[in-house]
Amino acid sequence: MTSTAEQSIAATGAAIGNPSLVNQVILGDCTQVMRQMPDASVDMVLTDPPYLVNYHDRSGRSLANDDNTRWMFPAFSELYRVLKPDSYCVSFYGWSKVDRFLSVWRECGFRPVGHFIWVKRYASCVRHAQMKHEQAYLLVKGEPKLPGHPPADVLPWQYTGNRLHPTQKAVSSLAPLIEAYSKPDGIILDPFAGSGSTGAAARYCHRRFILIEKDAVYHRAASARLN
Ligand SMILES: C[S@@+](CC[C@H](N)C(=O)[O-])C[C@H]1O[C@@H](n2cnc3c(N)ncnc32)[C@H](O)[C@@H]1O
Repeated sequence: MTSTAEQSIAATGAAIGNPSLVNQVILGDCTQVMRQMPDASVDMVLTDPPYLVNYHDRSGRSLANDDNTRWMFPAFSELYRVLKPDSYCVSFYGWSKVDRFLSVWRECGFRPVGHFIWVKRYASCVRHAQMKHEQAYLLVKGEPKLPGHPPADVLPWQYTGNRLHPTQKAVSSLAPLIEAYSKPDGIILDPFAGSGSTGAAARYCHRRFILIEKDAVYHRAASARLN
């Protein structure tokens, strides 16, 4: 574990693998943090990893690890290990690198069973096309029971203003997925937590969360939002 992760966990009084990690925002590299977590210890993963596009917003904010693929297999294989069998993982991804994401997910053991599109009322970028959607895959480990009320795979997008994070997701975009693919009080893991939107959505849905974020600025924003 990195010293920053150790310090952050020590600061919260939480020990990895200890139930007190639950409802915490952990500062550190998610692969190293997850390595300390027990097998099959979370009920659902909902995550928004780097998109592999070297993203910079208009004010120059960027994402750690958006410029390389080295983190992908180690992080997703740990994430697969800590997810309970017969459970769901929803992962956003960069559409231009879909081949890379799908091959890593499959290599780790995940099976794609659905795909979500959020439709924007505005274009986030105009080049060869007006870019008016966000996207995520629905992946399974094993054979989860079908959800009682599966959500539509085309959903409306709500713009957050990106005040806390350059790619901040709205709670209203995440909550329907948490409701469908986990049970009340379940533990939702987001190892690429950014400003903690997954944690806010989990709390809104009466679930618990474990969030991990590498960048100290976003970790602070998520902690302030959730603590
Ligand atoms: C696309 S953003 C997530 C934004 C988030 N969904 C939100 O609403 O704020 C991806 C995040 O993953 C973080 N990250 C990248 N590599 C990481 C790693 N190895 N461990 C933990 N966090 C990492 C980045 O710092 C970035 O904040």
